[in-house]
Amino acid sequence: MRVLITGNKGYIGSVITPMIAAAGHETVGLDTGLFEHCTFGEAPPRVPQLDCDLRDVQASDLEGFDAIVHLAALCNDPLGDLNPELTMDINYAASVRLARLAKEAGVPLFLYASSCSLYGASGEDMVTEEAEFQPLTAYAKSKVLTEQEVSRLADDSFSPVFLRNATVYGLSPRLRLDLVVNHLVASACATGVIYLKSDGTPWRPLVHVEDVGRSILAALEAPRSLIHNQSFNVGSNDENYQIWQVAEIVNRIVPGSRIEYAPGATGDLRCYRVDFSKIHRTLPNFKTEWTVESGAHQLYRAFTREGFPYEDVDGPRYQRLKQIRALMSGGLLDSSLRWVNLRQAVVLS
Ligand SMILES: NC(=O)c1ccc[n+]([C@@H]2O[C@H](COP(=O)([O-])OP(=O)(O)OC[C@H]3O[C@@H](n4cnc5c(N)ncnc54)[C@H](O)[C@@H]3O)[C@@H](O)[C@H]2O)c1
Repeated sequence: MRVLITGNKGYIGSVITPMIAAAGHETVGLDTGLFEHCTFGEAPPRVPQLDCDLRDVQASDLEGFDAIVHLAALCNDPLGDLNPELTMDINYAASVRLARLAKEAGVPLFLYASSCSLYGASGEDMVTEEAEFQPLTAYAKSKVLTEQEVSRLADDSFSPVFLRNATVYGLSPRLRLDLVVNHLVASACATGVIYLKSDGTPWRPLVHVEDVGRSILAALEAPRSLIHNQSFNVGSNDENYQIWQVAEIVNRIVPGSRIEYAPGATGDLRCYRVDFSKIHRTLPNFKTEWTVESGAHQLYRAFTREGFPYEDVDGPRYQRLKQIRALMSGGLLDSSLRWVNLRQAVVLS
């Protein structure tokens, strides 16, 4: 298949693009490169690229693709709170526009990276794809609205599929540390402290970045009748954790580390336990291979091997919100997150 992957230079994209290529598909990327110079270890292999902002893509750019894997977005809750309108613009309006143009250009399959965060505050009970949406943030709302609107485009010629990923962890050349497992391991390695900002009670489903790649491959290769206009939670039933459990796993793996709670730490409203039976039942080729335990080991080994500077744990290099703020205050990005000077974007990369 000829596959366009938006957001291919990000945390998930830089892991799954080589996986899709290794499975024999032709890959082309589309990414504005916000985090292109935030590389951990070796840079990901380059692929042919549509070097444009998602908001500027044209139907003619999309002709000839068999599938689009749509990852590009402003990804995380605090980033959405920084400027909810931008999150709506890029994550929602530009995503729906991309889907419309894809349909117009005759692309039959549209795999959308959605998120289990749209279940928001669903509490202790396991939620399936049928559960009510309870988005708590601009980011989660943008995912709900995009799913709803793109779903209406489905017809005989256009199959959208909504892959609701659990919170992702694991090694990537475009590492993110604003994700709970990654942050706790990095913090334990660099400072010896596993610092919990909440009281550790909220439930969170977790999935390894390579297993996200496996779900995309399984969907790309599935018979259309099984996936047409369907939503799938992506993860596995036994990988729902309370945050304190994640802290204990990290504590066992990183020698000499200790767990600390923020003074006055309370619960986090965002709390959801997710049922992943549907994807395993529908796509038997999809199997997760990682657990939080093996993923934390992977990160620990990488951080020990490469060395992990203290200032990078909470600094702008691997924190999406801080990186964007740094690019804006340095005059490289304008207030709509467009590069002020495209040349600078290229030099940075
Ligand atoms: N990481 C997670 O835990 C997680 C969980 C659930 C869903 N998701 C979804 O998966 C997708 C990828 O997440 P990620 O963790 O790789 O995020 P990321 O921030 O690492 O990567 C996003 C990529 O999109 C690009 N991008 C942003 N705005 C763009 C624009 N206007 N035009 C072109 N490119 C643009 C960025 O340059 C970046 O490379 C997102 O849609 C996210 O919502 C992620």
